[in-house]
Amino acid sequence: MLRRTLLYLSGQQRLEGFLRRNRLARGFASRFVAGETLEEALAAVRRLNADGITASLDLLGESVRNEAEARTMGRAYHEMLQRIRSERLDANVSVKLTALGLDVSEELSVAVMQELLDYARKCNSFVRIDMESSAYTQRTLDLFEHRFFPNHRENVGVVFQSYLYRTLEDVAWANALRARVRLCKGAYMEPPSVAYPDKKDVDENYLRAMRVLLLEGNYPGIATHDERIIEETKRFAREHDVDPGRYEFQMLYGVRRDLQQSLVADGYRMRVYVPFGTQWYPYLMRRLAERPANVAFITGNVLRELVGARRRRR
Ligand code: FDA
Repeated sequence: MLRRTLLYLSGQQRLEGFLRRNRLARGFASRFVAGETLEEALAAVRRLNADGITASLDLLGESVRNEAEARTMGRAYHEMLQRIRSERLDANVSVKLTALGLDVSEELSVAVMQELLDYARKCNSFVRIDMESSAYTQRTLDLFEHRFFPNHRENVGVVFQSYLYRTLEDVAWANALRARVRLCKGAYMEPPSVAYPDKKDVDENYLRAMRVLLLEGNYPGIATHDERIIEETKRFAREHDVDPGRYEFQMLYGVRRDLQQSLVADGYRMRVYVPFGTQWYPYLMRRLAERPANVAFITGNVLRELVGARRRRR
């Protein structure tokens, strides 16, 4: 119930305006978002690299409304790739097609993405296309298969969400292409017609997809903080002689840093998804929805600040 409410609120612009102005909410966001500028994000990547962790940089911004904004986003991604290369950082980038203008026009997002992929190849880097809500799944995969993957087999990858009923079929499709996949549980509000409503089924589907990816996939990214799934991934890989160099674990910036470090210490590959930028509100709300304990923390602090401000005005 709380998860659905938070995911609903993630699209509410009035609350976004209020929280973006609120000092404590911004402070809380900094736990999950590496900063509002590229410099701050690069500093976070440097710290991760120093700990033996690779990164994937994501410039937040999902609702691009016109061509100029989409092109600005494309240029920002070029700059990210250029800085990653010039500073010899161990990082790639993740991008949402809506951030490149998919809602403005499909051809616009394809043009911006193709330029980005050409530039990523020059930089010897990799672009992961994040997966958004199920309204975008088929379009994203169609564009991936026909417009992006044919010319960029080595430097573009997709994401699947284990809460969707379709995911095992999508995994088989991607493995047949030899496309690189990140597997996650899924972070959007989805109806029971397309997604498992029960967490237990989402987790079981994750395990099934993970096993197929480890056996037949092309360097899969196992993106989760779920210790039970991580343990089963390690056990399954050992049992089937899948070398730890043939896959990587992935986690979100600011979540389970202890686990990130212990996996690296045990010899596993770990990549952290590093979001940054001023458009952090929808991203933060999805992180809150994953862990309701975070909500108590943030609402408590925001209420305290509001009460304090009222007292000061009296
Ligand atoms: P689950 O939600 O069951 O959490 C397991 C445990 O992890 C919790 O008990 C808690 O300890 C910890 N945890 C999880 N989230 C936390 C949080 N926010 N704060 C504190 N602790 C937390 N989704 C999507 O729809 N499209 C995408 O492209 C991506 N991309 C992506 C990349 C990477 C690298 C990751 C790790 C995740 C994504 N996601 C995503 C998000 C994903 O779908 C999912 O919502 C979150 O990873 C949370 O799910 P878990 O697998 O961690 O399990």
